[in-house]
Amino acid sequence: MPTWLQKILSSSLGKKYITAITGLLLVLFLVAHLAGNLTIYADKDGSAFNSYAHLIESNPLLPLAEAGLLVLFLAHIGLAVRVTIENRRARRSRYAVANDKGKKTTSSATMIWTGLIVLGFLILHIWNFRIGKELAGESGDLYTLVKSELRQGWTPWAYVVGMGALGFHLWHALRSAFQTLGAAHPYLDEAWEKLRWLAVVLALGFASFPLYFLFYT
Ligand code: HEM
Repeated sequence: MPTWLQKILSSSLGKKYITAITGLLLVLFLVAHLAGNLTIYADKDGSAFNSYAHLIESNPLLPLAEAGLLVLFLAHIGLAVRVTIENRRARRSRYAVANDKGKKTTSSATMIWTGLIVLGFLILHIWNFRIGKELAGESGDLYTLVKSELRQGWTPWAYVVGMGALGFHLWHALRSAFQTLGAAHPYLDEAWEKLRWLAVVLALGFASFPLYFLFYT
């Protein structure tokens, strides 16, 4: 690991910065992912969604993008868990009493739990579609796989709960990331406050798919 990166990662503020930046990049991925998934609503036979999936899969840069995404998720989760553990330790030690850096806020207290629920969702999701797709091989198209998974047993409800947690997580995250990055300013604050509604749009947008397959198809 280069020394500049070691230096950043050894400080608590450095870890928070990288957690914020990787989190914001993951939000950009979610916006693109939701936009792509909306092709599900374009027709009833899934041809628009399947053509979109084919377009993505035939891009030679896909393995690179997937590796980048994996690094973002691992860095974000790993650092967020470490910062939480360090803050808890600091709060418990006498030394931290006069130091408000370790102070617990409602947001930091719920972030780790909503984050872990989203991680649980992500493991299920990758199993359903990324690994499921390999298992289905050439025999089925992606739309049929998504439709059958999102109507099966408790899976759609796990998706709805996961998206509830994602909504809460991003609602707090979209404010705290900009605070961490030092972008707080009276009128910028107003802009970030509006941007937080993106959390609601993403959560409702993603949750709409299992509900659509359950009740309308
Ligand atoms: C109901 C909502 C969602 C649906 C219908 C959906 C659908 C899909 C599908 C079909 C794939 C496989 C794409 C392919 O391999 O061609 C996929 C991959 C993926 N999804 Fe979702 N997704 C949803 C929500 C989410 C959310 C909320 C997250 C993140 C928190 C997420 C993260 C990912 C990741 C990381 C991959 C793997 C990307 C790759 O390896 O190429 N998805 N999703």
